Amino acid sequence: MTTTALSAREFRNALGQFATGVTVVTVEREAGSVFGMTANAFTSVSLNPMLILVCVDERAKILSILHKKKRFGVSVLKQGQQALSEYFAQGEQNSEAEHRLGLRYRWTPEGVPVLEDTVMQLGCSVVATHVTGDHTIVVGKVEDAEIHGGEPLLFFRGEYRHIGGE
Ligand SMILES: Cc1cc2nc3c(=O)[nH]c(=O)nc-3n(C[C@H](O)[C@H](O)[C@H](O)COP(=O)(O)O)c2cc1C
Repeated sequence: MTTTALSAREFRNALGQFATGVTVVTVEREAGSVFGMTANAFTSVSLNPMLILVCVDERAKILSILHKKKRFGVSVLKQGQQALSEYFAQGEQNSEAEHRLGLRYRWTPEGVPVLEDTVMQLGCSVVATHVTGDHTIVVGKVEDAEIHGGEPLLFFRGEYRHIGGE
């Protein structure tokens, strides 16, 4: 049996060297009400068919809703939207807090909620899920995409950054 000297902290630090954007994965919890989760484990998978993936922690509240609804949105946050990233990284979400943050949702033609005023928004249907380690890889078929532009919020070495500076 091989052993590794790599600690969890070292593993996180190593992966933190990979700069990413920040997305919010959204699902319709009940009619008209949305639940979201901040995720940077997002990537493109395939061009034909058009597939993306997001890795979701087994303990995340959103996972059971994703399994049930089989549709989700992905919105790429803009520079300056750290407060939105923090909000969707905690489970206590309600319309009052969303009003305070100025959040607005748009529903795609397929009925998927996405966040308005973000760089880019995808509407997806779940085509596969793979449990691996302590996460589930959720593969989504992209049904709708809108690019609204603006500079993206970045995440690097455990901190929020923006293009062209610290
Ligand atoms: C910048 C950032 C990126 C994150 N990326 C992911 C991710 O890709 N997958 C994931 O499962 N959680 C990710 N998280 C953590 C979740 O947003 C957060 O733990 C989760 O929403 C907590 O939900 P719960 O209250 O349902 O457990 C990230 C958090 C932050 C701040």
